[in-house]
Amino acid sequence: MKQPSKIEPAEGKLGILLPGLGAVATTFVAGVEASRRGLAQPFGSLTQMNTIRLGKRTDERTPLIKDLVPLADLENLVFGAWDPIPDDGYSSAVKAGVLHKENHLDPIKDFLSSIKPMPAVFDTAYVKKLDGPNKKSGNKFEQAEELRADIRRFKEENGCDRLVMVWCGSTEVFMRPGAIHESPESFEQAMKENDESIAPSMLYAYASLMEGVPYANGAPNLSADIPALETLAIDNGVPIGGKDFKTGQTLMKTILAPGFKTRMLGLSGWFSTNILGNRDGEVLDDPASFKTKEESKLGALEHILQPEMYPDLYGDMYHKVRINYYPPRGDNKEGWDNIDIFGWMGYHMQIKVDFLCRDSILAAPIVLDLALFLDLAARADLSGVQEWLSFYFKAPQTAPGLYPEHDIFIQHWKLKNTLRWLMGEEMMTHLGVEYYD
Ligand SMILES: NC(=O)c1ccc[n+]([C@@H]2O[C@H](COP(=O)([O-])OP(=O)(O)OC[C@H]3O[C@@H](n4cnc5c(N)ncnc54)[C@H](O)[C@@H]3O)[C@@H](O)[C@H]2O)c1
Repeated sequence: MKQPSKIEPAEGKLGILLPGLGAVATTFVAGVEASRRGLAQPFGSLTQMNTIRLGKRTDERTPLIKDLVPLADLENLVFGAWDPIPDDGYSSAVKAGVLHKENHLDPIKDFLSSIKPMPAVFDTAYVKKLDGPNKKSGNKFEQAEELRADIRRFKEENGCDRLVMVWCGSTEVFMRPGAIHESPESFEQAMKENDESIAPSMLYAYASLMEGVPYANGAPNLSADIPALETLAIDNGVPIGGKDFKTGQTLMKTILAPGFKTRMLGLSGWFSTNILGNRDGEVLDDPASFKTKEESKLGALEHILQPEMYPDLYGDMYHKVRINYYPPRGDNKEGWDNIDIFGWMGYHMQIKVDFLCRDSILAAPIVLDLALFLDLAARADLSGVQEWLSFYFKAPQTAPGLYPEHDIFIQHWKLKNTLRWLMGEEMMTHLGVEYYD
């Protein structure tokens, strides 16, 4: 990848398009608006709060990330969405039950109510547990063309200079990439033939890439993670990233597991179970959607611990993940982890984690950062998979044949080094021998 010679400034309005106006999407837009009105702070967002060290420790140059790289300002963001359920942003946020109605939703009701979802490309063959009347019809190619028309109309009506799309829709049933996903040509032909291997999320990704709009996938379903769309992204010069926002239990796993490995502590088992009662939990109650989530959640430990390199430490580890739909909990998930580790001479120890987590509170700043960083990537002329954004994903997309990096600390270092690289700043190695000369 070539270092960009120039990054276009972040002038004008940035439209953020959200397929899926549920818990995560409404928590995200409500948080941006609350920040703009000075009612809340964007905690959890690197683009808004994190600093970045430049040069040597003695140089004392540590600006905010947003003061180093040109990012769209929160004031310049506008939002659009699609959803088969016709609730506007306010009604959907109230139903999601993540944010406090009187304290956080009612004060911005005018803004949230103004976000009305466009008719979705939706099919219950891919998400079995929900349905709604706000849908498009026609074959898959025609529906993708309608999405493209929606994108153009939104841009025009809202006076946007640039757009990005972040999939916040439900988790679709498990699918493996097949022959029709190989090239843009086979993909287009299959759309025209209404092939069942093309899921709605792929049509959004296709429409986005055809319109030159960067695309991120916050769910574990394939969407843009197929050769046809990766090729299209490069051909059309569009950056993409995926899959599955790294929140909750997987966030904890990718924080804890690198710690065990750096200390060369063994792991004999990691049992994870969750109870959650939101709409996402209901969708994941369907075994086909759960299978997609399970695959996404299982990969992280294997990649971090590298059992093939450390067979005595990790060769026999038993890893199990369960998700249980339990309506009384709503969005306030509880995730238990029982971790069986061993140390010196094989003596066993146990760690128990009980994370009373708020999934959408953890996911919302990820949507913001992905939107702003993908917009930056587009202005820096980067295209295809943006691996430096793997920090935000449970199942990071990578170049073909390259294993993903799951260790959150390496991912964070990679993200910041990419920002330094983009701005022509020295890369951070943490070697530090020069301080002792
Ligand atoms: N909450 C988290 O922390 C978290 C973390 C990682 C991933 N995710 C994923 O993000 C997605 C959103 O999560 P959520 O909690 O907001 O779920 P949610 O059920 O509250 O919202 C999803 C919305 O997407 C809509 N939808 C489904 N298919 C669609 C389509 N084809 N087009 C347009 N809209 C569609 C649904 O009607 C629903 O309103 C899920 O796939 C979830 O697995 C969430």
